[in-house]
Amino acid sequence: MTDELKYQNYLELDTLLSLQNPRSAGSAAMKSTVLSEQFFIIAHQASELWLTQIIADLEAAIDTFTTTDDTSNAEWIVDLLQRAGELMRLLSTQLTALDRLPLRDFAMFRQYLGTASGAQSKQFHRLAHLIGNAEQDGPLYESFVAWVARSGHTISDLARRGIEADVYYRIIEALLDVGNGYWRWQVSHISLITRVMGNHAGTGGTSGANYLISHCTLPFAELRDLRSQAHIGLSVATS
Ligand code: HEM
Repeated sequence: MTDELKYQNYLELDTLLSLQNPRSAGSAAMKSTVLSEQFFIIAHQASELWLTQIIADLEAAIDTFTTTDDTSNAEWIVDLLQRAGELMRLLSTQLTALDRLPLRDFAMFRQYLGTASGAQSKQFHRLAHLIGNAEQDGPLYESFVAWVARSGHTISDLARRGIEADVYYRIIEALLDVGNGYWRWQVSHISLITRVMGNHAGTGGTSGANYLISHCTLPFAELRDLRSQAHIGLSVATS
């Protein structure tokens, strides 16, 4: 007789829910400190889980841009990019929830973090590479540009045509959503840090908030330039 698959097993919850281990638990720390450290761990673990999905979706979009020359899979790319954009929003909301991390508790359990820092997140570095930054496009935008060129269009023409560019328009909008979601995450992160750390240095060895402010970046420069040109074009046409 085969064991019937149940919720607990399918999601491997015994393993998943055994992985939240506040380091302050074995110490003389107060219950509120241990609970706050648990909150901190869960927010990071949940972010890493969503990063797994975001990266997989963006890699699937890049793969499809790279291996097709037409719009046969374009609606699927829209789905992937829209989902990644929505999940970027979710990541920011998780950071906002951390505003509810009591300063006193954080100051207490921070000693247990050692040199552990979000700056060591391999998945975040992978995401940053795929998306690129204000100075340098990443594989996501580069593969999109090459796909558009192979299908006989230019990005500026598609952006100028707006909604008439149909699925290309939806892809451009979805890309901007991903880029703005990424930006929003960085801003929420800085806002959180100023709240719970002030100007204190990070556990990863940086100056903290000031370091992150100087590294904050908005990707997809070309798409944003084309947005501004649309305003110039319209104001000329109507004047
Ligand atoms: C109370 C909560 C948090 C604090 C105080 C905090 C603090 C910091 C600080 C100070 C840095 C700069 C590097 C360093 O010196 O350590 C940093 C970087 C980073 N943190 Fe957080 N963080 C928090 C929550 C999160 C969460 C929930 C995530 C989600 C995974 C995260 C991911 C990252 C990443 C990816 C970086 C590197 C960013 C970059 O290099 O642009 N952090 N964090």
